[in-house]
Amino acid sequence: MHHKYDVLVVGAGGAGLMAALYAAKGDVSVAVISKLYPTRSHTGAAQGGVGAALGNIGEDHWEWHMFDTIKGGDYLTDQDAAEVFSKDVIDAVYELEHMGLPFSRTPEGKIAQRKFGGHTREFGKAAVERSCYAKDRTGHMILQTLYQQNVKEGTTFFNEFHVLDLIIENGRCCGVVAFELATGEIHTFQAKSVILASGGYGRIFKITSNALTLSGDLMSIYYRKGLPLEDMEFYQFHPTGLTKLGILITEGVRGEGGILRNKDGERFMERYAPTIKDLAPRDMVARAIYTEIRAGRGCGPAGDHIFLDLTHLPPEQLDAKLPDITEFARTYLGIEPYTDPIPIQPTAHYAMGGVPTNIDAQVLRNNTDIVPGLFAAGEVACVSVHGANRLGTNSLLDINVFGRRGGLSAAAYANSLAAHVDLPDNPVDDVVALLQRLRDGGGTENVATIRSELQETMDAHASVYRTEETLKQAEVDIAGLKARYVHVGVADRGLRYNTELLEAVELGFLLDLAEVMVVSAKARNESRGGHFREDFPHRDDVNFMRHTMAYKDGGDIRLDYKPVVQTRYQPMERKY
Ligand code: FUM
Repeated sequence: MHHKYDVLVVGAGGAGLMAALYAAKGDVSVAVISKLYPTRSHTGAAQGGVGAALGNIGEDHWEWHMFDTIKGGDYLTDQDAAEVFSKDVIDAVYELEHMGLPFSRTPEGKIAQRKFGGHTREFGKAAVERSCYAKDRTGHMILQTLYQQNVKEGTTFFNEFHVLDLIIENGRCCGVVAFELATGEIHTFQAKSVILASGGYGRIFKITSNALTLSGDLMSIYYRKGLPLEDMEFYQFHPTGLTKLGILITEGVRGEGGILRNKDGERFMERYAPTIKDLAPRDMVARAIYTEIRAGRGCGPAGDHIFLDLTHLPPEQLDAKLPDITEFARTYLGIEPYTDPIPIQPTAHYAMGGVPTNIDAQVLRNNTDIVPGLFAAGEVACVSVHGANRLGTNSLLDINVFGRRGGLSAAAYANSLAAHVDLPDNPVDDVVALLQRLRDGGGTENVATIRSELQETMDAHASVYRTEETLKQAEVDIAGLKARYVHVGVADRGLRYNTELLEAVELGFLLDLAEVMVVSAKARNESRGGHFREDFPHRDDVNFMRHTMAYKDGGDIRLDYKPVVQTRYQPMERKY
């Protein structure tokens, strides 16, 4: 089936819904294609809040937020993006409030704000209350609010459609090819502008906060066309996932006064970040947790986790501010957080890297030139506002600020074209061939087995701590898995709801992205933000103050580099 819209958005999380809403304001036809029903998107898992210098509790300024974002990103952040981001988010939060988002409130009725990791006042003097929250359901509330607004604007939704190809003709993006889960039918969507807002790829790891759907589809599809992925070595591990499960326990817990303790009951973050302690940035806290565990100070019989202690906080505060995560602890671990500490471990959470864009969400084909008609926002994109390590709350900020900019840019571009660009002949051929090979090729390798071996090797060799040796091991393992992937097959040959077939396709995306991460990480002989090399434990600004750009080059990966945009702040030692 063939469809035609002015603007097409791929993904219905916060970035996609905000982009669609703003594109619709440009008087263009807008459709959103989503793997899920929109309100089930992964933005719903973002719990603790959206950072904005409203100053509702204590004094705050966008410059302080900008500085924290750059320092938190270990100076790899592009500072033009950080400036736009910290200024624009203030309006974006009030706009969400006016759309009806039920923020928690101060006693005077203002939007409530709490402390979060790496957010400080006066350029690092002390933690500041900057996270605007709706209990511990902020992302969920953003999704509900934006979905309602899109329904009001008349956005068309194609739910449970999987985009399996981008149509790029003569260097311009002019549509996508998608698979309809309910029927197995292949659809072409022709569009003047396509906005990628399809999220991350945390499923390359085993212990992750990411939903099952986060397999990096559009990042990989983009990369397979010979276009670059930026800064893929930088991946964030959120310090507090439920042990062994990875389910997110918000940093808002520490913002409310929760404390990390080792097996001796020691508040160990006092040693690692004496000024802001448990509220240090995530990369530092995740490393501190593993350092404690490696030193034999981990908790539990196996000494493999740390405790997040809330027992000193009044139950009324937990019920009012953190109702969901306390319930997760009860449901999944049988722990009562009123009286017992929650066992946690770092969990793979967020990709700082992705599809490179400028601050208007236009996708870059190299260090400077754009792909006309293609835009990206949210976790799939690398603008790069998060640099080497994203601060907590800045993802919800990113989806609002750059989702909005993406929607406006995409609508403006669509309005500038008199007509749609013609599609090539047979745009679905590659997708049909791929599905046919997986379904009817007689392959005997099992999707779940290869995926779980990939996740095991990534957890073991490419997570919080890395060395050249571990990365080489991951590279060898991934090469072996890719060779086996060629022989993968599925048992379900049907057309309707063939999720097994789609999982096989997604596994190919995961393998690509894991390989790009490992190759990019192996070439970065320094430690910066979320990329920590035990064999090169220091930041090296002389050789590595630059973004990585990874291109698919036949069967190989070619690495190039791009300068970091520095405007106001010079790199400094990163102490908290
Ligand atoms: O900890 C959290 O609530 C997660 C938020 C985020 O990743 O920004």
